[in-house]
Amino acid sequence: MEKEKQLQAIQVYVKEIFHDDATGHDYFHMKRVAEMAKTIAKQENADLFVAEAAGWLHDIGDHKLFDNPTKVINDLYSFLESIQVSSDEIEKVRIAARDVSFSKGKTPTTIEGKIVQDADRLDAIGAIGIARTFAYGGAKGQLIFHDSKQESTSIRHFYDKLLKLKDLIHTATAKQIANERHSFMETFLEQFYEEW
Ligand code: NI
Repeated sequence: MEKEKQLQAIQVYVKEIFHDDATGHDYFHMKRVAEMAKTIAKQENADLFVAEAAGWLHDIGDHKLFDNPTKVINDLYSFLESIQVSSDEIEKVRIAARDVSFSKGKTPTTIEGKIVQDADRLDAIGAIGIARTFAYGGAKGQLIFHDSKQESTSIRHFYDKLLKLKDLIHTATAKQIANERHSFMETFLEQFYEEW
């Protein structure tokens, strides 16, 4: 199967899994990460197919999102075989997607992995990142903010994670975008406190 057809099949597969997610990990998150990964991969001369495919698939099997991650991941590999992605490429995609998650605290070992991690982090900051943070907090029953208690609120998440991300970006292409999105979050927080 041609690469383009394989990517289309992957897109359909991902839509099936994430279409009704309300935690900020919906199909459109996967789409933005896949497209951003492809854009960065072009600039960085990385493998476009591996970067884009891993962008689409990076959240499949995440412990936060799935009750049975092992089964979900095994199903994914069977699916990739069924659309004739070579075992060599499946391995590259697996490695690129494996260490993306912020909570694992890992640095991916391949350039495609670093690119997908950058793309995922870019989607966690800026206007989209702000929207996703409150969606996630709402889905998990958290408060927007609490002005005295040190509990896990959505605003607290900015300090625990979001404001740290720009310094954890690997590629120059993503770094530039991260800086802009970071400033936007700072402006948002100033305004938020003013209104609060
Ligand atoms: Ni993600």
